[in-house]
Amino acid sequence: MKLRVSSIDTFYGTSHILHGVSLEVGEGEVFAVLGRNGAGKTTLLRSITGINPPRRGAIFLDETDITRLKPHERTRLGVSYVPQGREIIPDITVAENIFVALIGKGRKHDKVPDLVFEYFPALRPLLDKKGGVLSGGQQQQLAIARALVQEPQLLLMDEPTEGLQPSVVEEIDQIINRIPRERHCTVLLVEQNLDFVRYVANRFAILDTGRIVAKGNIKDLTEELAHRYLVG
Ligand SMILES: Nc1ncnc2c1ncn2[C@@H]1O[C@H](COP(=O)(O)OP(=O)(O)OP(=O)(O)O)[C@@H](O)[C@H]1O
Ligand SMILES: [Mg+2]
Repeated sequence: MKLRVSSIDTFYGTSHILHGVSLEVGEGEVFAVLGRNGAGKTTLLRSITGINPPRRGAIFLDETDITRLKPHERTRLGVSYVPQGREIIPDITVAENIFVALIGKGRKHDKVPDLVFEYFPALRPLLDKKGGVLSGGQQQQLAIARALVQEPQLLLMDEPTEGLQPSVVEEIDQIINRIPRERHCTVLLVEQNLDFVRYVANRFAILDTGRIVAKGNIKDLTEELAHRYLVG
């Protein structure tokens, strides 16, 4: 599924965060959004999910204008979200966290789909545990599994490796690398780890104080750009 974000302006109350942001992600691409803390990366993903829709501009999935749709309507059209900080529901079980995602998609929810174990076999013995007792890495696996059971055509991922130990990061990276190919979905990924971005993404855009300041093919993501907008 193709995504087109056309000149959106997004606000929190009176705070004007995104300024005329445009980007296009082609079917099956992995598109990386980069930028410093506070640049507006999460706000961009929340604009696309409909949690915090833009005040101006438009968002299209293929040819469908989704700008005014509610989040659950976007989910049913194929948009799934792995939020920053994972947002696992702590007081219900791992299985129930997955059922909530299935309900969101309007699906049957009496059994955890096998694809969860295909990607995350380590979740099987944890199904009856409360979400809140899982480690950071396990919660991230659950957050990705929860999105995958919705069979997304556009998967939005917000810093999926943030705050995880290097060994766990590597596991998550391998999974994210498999998803676009094996699930036939387009991926929009917010990620700070440049090596990983270069490994998985085809194209990128850099946000700086709510504006796109660079975009291109992943091979055009030079050290100079990284220095100017990301680390320097
Ligand atoms: N709920 C909110 N209400 C008001 N301002 C907000 C809210 N959430 C974020 N902001 C502000 O919007 C701007 C962009 O925040 P956003 O979370 O999109 O940045 P980010 O690029 O995702 O940063 P990070 O890398 O730290 O996750 C920041 O200045 C932030 O303080
Ligand atoms: Mg963020």
